Amino acid sequence: MSQYLITGAAGFIGSHLCEALLAEGHRVVGLDCFIPYYPRAAKETNLTALRDREGFSFIEADLRADPLHEIVADCDAVFHLAAMPGLVKSWSDFQLYSSCNLEATQRLLDAVRDRNVPHFIHVSTSSVYGREATGPETSELHPFSPYGITKLAAEGLCHAYHANFGVPFTILRYFSVYGPRQRPDMAYHLLIEALLNGESFPMHGDGEQTRSNTFVSDCVRATMLAAAHREAALGRTFNVGGGEVVSLNQVVTLLEELTGCTARIERKPPRPGDQKHTQADITQARERLGYEPMVGVREGLTAQVEWHRRPRSGGAA
Ligand SMILES: NC(=O)c1ccc[n+]([C@@H]2O[C@H](COP(=O)([O-])OP(=O)(O)OC[C@H]3O[C@@H](n4cnc5c(N)ncnc54)[C@H](O)[C@@H]3O)[C@@H](O)[C@H]2O)c1
Repeated sequence: MSQYLITGAAGFIGSHLCEALLAEGHRVVGLDCFIPYYPRAAKETNLTALRDREGFSFIEADLRADPLHEIVADCDAVFHLAAMPGLVKSWSDFQLYSSCNLEATQRLLDAVRDRNVPHFIHVSTSSVYGREATGPETSELHPFSPYGITKLAAEGLCHAYHANFGVPFTILRYFSVYGPRQRPDMAYHLLIEALLNGESFPMHGDGEQTRSNTFVSDCVRATMLAAAHREAALGRTFNVGGGEVVSLNQVVTLLEELTGCTARIERKPPRPGDQKHTQADITQARERLGYEPMVGVREGLTAQVEWHRRPRSGGAA
């Protein structure tokens, strides 16, 4: 049994990770400051299954400002998921992205170094590759949005803290994660809500953009494998993706079938910074961590549609 700190615990992926670690019998400290990028009520709902769980404690703290040393002191690993995600807003509020993605990571790394935390698992993104993300981890990195640039700079901090102070780190680059509790700004969330409510869905681009979708339980499993195989993971960067690549047009067709509703597509130009194709090369995660995605797109979207259909407070778009 280990003790873990999860930053971004009230968010989409962080809340699932907390639940999965608790289910394995670990002690989990969740941290979040409820950045109002989407409503706090949705994040509180993400935490409902966690609040009363034995072994779970929650700290409301801002990584940019609050003292962190005591929080990390007894942790066997820190899973750093807290960030400002989503690329669109990163063009108009760069300060928020640079402070939450970069300064926050630097303050956390300081604390991890000073308290000798044995493993810093840093969550990054396929956006660090650029307009296309189709190769292995050694591919060239040309981020195409301010979001991707801040996430790449945060990766750089991990390397710098390792090179200068020996901070033991692993970087995980997630590829388009989906499933229950998906963030309300993400395409599948918006599309499913539009279908179920008979509203139009703004499609940016021709819909032929493809994504290496990762179901949230696969993403969480890969993340936990990085901690479980610490020696194999140390100092390395891993792509974390799903097995299937689909275009947005294919997803529209599939979701029409799963919801029984017809999509009303509102054509929009591509947005600055949008990726065209992503296809995660997970060879390294497969070989070193034993990671294998298990949930296909049909099964994963079925679970997400079911979640959207459930009555809940605060979570809907
Ligand atoms: N969702 C995806 O498809 C995807 C893809 C690639 C990478 N990622 C990465 O995965 C991580 C989690 O993403 P998500 O989709 O769950 O996002 P999310 O917004 O649902 O969760 C992130 C959480 O971090 C918190 N946070 C942000 N800044 C903070 C700060 N300064 N102090 C404390 N808490 C802070 C927010 O309040 C939020 O609850 C992020 O690092 C993101 O860049 C996500």
